Amino acid sequence: MRSLRNRLAFLFFAITLAAIAALYLYIAPQLETRLRDEKVTQLREAAQGTIGDVRRAAGTDVPTEGLDEAVSQAGDRANARLTLLRVNSVDGAPQLERVSDSVRGGETLDQGIAEGVLRDGRTASAVTRSLAIVAVPVADRDGRISFVALYSTPTSDVEGNVAVVRQQILIAGAIALALAVLAGWLVARALAQRVKRLEEAAEQVAAGDFSRPIPVDSDDELGQLARAFNDMQRQLAQLDRARKQFIATASHELRTPLFSLGGFVELLEDEELDEETRRRFIGQLRLQVERLRKLTVDLLDLSRLEAGSLELRPEPVDLSELASAVSSEFEPVLAQRDAHLEVRLTGRAVEALCDPVRVAQIMRILIDNALTHSPAGTDIVVSATRDDGFARLAVRDHGKGIERQALSQIFEPFYTTDDAQGSGLGLAIASELAERMRGRLGVESRPGRTVFTLELPA
Ligand SMILES: Nc1ncnc2c1ncn2[C@@H]1O[C@H](COP(=O)(O)OP(=O)(O)OP(=O)(O)O)[C@@H](O)[C@H]1O
Ligand SMILES: [Mg+2]
Repeated sequence: MRSLRNRLAFLFFAITLAAIAALYLYIAPQLETRLRDEKVTQLREAAQGTIGDVRRAAGTDVPTEGLDEAVSQAGDRANARLTLLRVNSVDGAPQLERVSDSVRGGETLDQGIAEGVLRDGRTASAVTRSLAIVAVPVADRDGRISFVALYSTPTSDVEGNVAVVRQQILIAGAIALALAVLAGWLVARALAQRVKRLEEAAEQVAAGDFSRPIPVDSDDELGQLARAFNDMQRQLAQLDRARKQFIATASHELRTPLFSLGGFVELLEDEELDEETRRRFIGQLRLQVERLRKLTVDLLDLSRLEAGSLELRPEPVDLSELASAVSSEFEPVLAQRDAHLEVRLTGRAVEALCDPVRVAQIMRILIDNALTHSPAGTDIVVSATRDDGFARLAVRDHGKGIERQALSQIFEPFYTTDDAQGSGLGLAIASELAERMRGRLGVESRPGRTVFTLELPA
């Protein structure tokens, strides 16, 4: 019962059985009642058509044979048994006596219905288990009911017809049931096979094999499921590739400074080094250690951002104030590079809802880029503005700019134009952070002018 195939076959079986049971238990009895009623109606009409003759014969003082003759003919014409009862008054109480019958020697009929006619004075009808009976009063000239004519006809043909119908319902039902079970089983088997294929494909994907898409052979729900599954498989394959590449690049990036560190340590072991060279090597060591430190922090940040586990604490922040504070951190570097950093503010507070620590991190990344990717001696401009519901922080430099085809790639992790300088994680982190704060990091660049703009909801 646990398989879809058996359950569907059972469902088809149950539905068909219910339909047959309804036919058998509801329609067949109704048919029987209707046929019986029709029988009575026909009998009433036949009685109406023949009672005149009976009345005439009973009204005159014809001899008994004449009456018998008339009753028998009327019975024949009505296609029913006709029994004529005379109403005798015995001590004031009416009594019924059979005076004539179209079927000689026929069994005595229940006279209850005739007594009812005596009381009401109107034609009455009834259906017993085996007979349809119509009782018609026959009045004499004074309007007194002197006879009651009982028309009766057997209902056995009705029962016979209904029994045939019941039997046919049963035979047709048995065939329908067999077909339903077979059809249900076949349909379910076809469905189960297609579901099985999906299951197998899912198992393959779970085992890391993204190479075999499921053939989409129809447009129905299962076809759509297969299509969605193939889409998912494609995306998973892409993610898998990206993940592998990320790990490969990350370990490569980590390896470079580590090898370099190892090399310098080996060189430093040489005891005949003069003081000057030793100091230079130690300087290099410090540089590589710093590079490693930055790289590990960046990698950690990026992986936290991508896993969604980096917690942000948004609060109303004045971006002008933040821009000045972060810019002043760069004074020593600026002095070294003979560059000038100008902070342009409107004089009013530029409020935005964001995490100040993370916005400062983005600014550092942007200013650092501006410094490293523009020639010494050129200016950098930082500005904070606010309009149409957004607060904007812009960092502008006057370096050689970013090439058009590189513009779409600079926000990807590890994309960098010069390997020696950085690892290409800065902008990836910055744009992820901006998105997490419901903001956006955009760039515009041409030779001599590059502007990165951080847009935050105000
Ligand atoms: N202001 C800029 N002017 C010109 N090119 C830039 C500028 N900012 C970024 N780029 C380009 O975008 C690339 C990616 O920048 P990103 O900050 O992500 O990495 P990076 O600076 O190379 O390394 P790091 O991870 O150390 O920051 C850079 O290599 C550089 O080519
Ligand atoms: Mg950078």
